[in-house]
Amino acid sequence: MRVTWKLADGREIAAEVAPGLSLMEAAVANNVPGVIGECGGCLSCATCHVVVDPAWSDRTGAPGEFEDAMLDITAAERQPASRLSCQIEAHPDLDGLVLHVPEA
Ligand code: FES
Repeated sequence: MRVTWKLADGREIAAEVAPGLSLMEAAVANNVPGVIGECGGCLSCATCHVVVDPAWSDRTGAPGEFEDAMLDITAAERQPASRLSCQIEAHPDLDGLVLHVPEA
């Protein structure tokens, strides 16, 4: 599946991501600035914060309970479509997904 990260400065990074990989792992592998993934995906750092593009937020779904709590401590202010990208798994249904990386 193809994912595009749109950065706060207007740059875009696009990459093919293997199904099953988390979108935090994919961002780190593609050197997406602003997505750090400090805790390795165990929901304790909130440094993998992204905002799902409005066209995609139905398909990525809502955050789980722990993710929802962690979204309250992100460096950049939480937005309605904010997610922790370690909790979104690459899947063929998400081909074309667009994620916005908030300014930290
Ligand atoms: Fe730490 Fe997502 S990588 S919460």
